Amino acid sequence: MTWIDITTKVAASDGLSPISIDDVELVVVRVEDDWWAFEDRCSHAGCAFSQDGEMDDTTVICYCHGSEFDITTGQPTRPPAEEPIRTFPIRMRDGVLEIDV
Ligand code: FES
Repeated sequence: MTWIDITTKVAASDGLSPISIDDVELVVVRVEDDWWAFEDRCSHAGCAFSQDGEMDDTTVICYCHGSEFDITTGQPTRPPAEEPIRTFPIRMRDGVLEIDV
């Protein structure tokens, strides 16, 4: 694993923070005390969650066509999406937010 410090890339406010690492576009979000990271691209037709999405606890909703995904697993929980989204390991350690892409 290669952990990358993204502390300064993530918005301090709640909500979806889009970031780019190498060629990967992803979003980082804090839900209560836990951090999650997943690809910023809906598996249904490619809409960006950072533009067309919203969080509800650990579910991300894509408003393009209504798909929902469990961000703890990446699995779709509401159609029309059938394929999972990619998720990434993320951790907070000594005040530093790190991700492995
Ligand atoms: S692109 Fe997300 S539901 Fe269609």
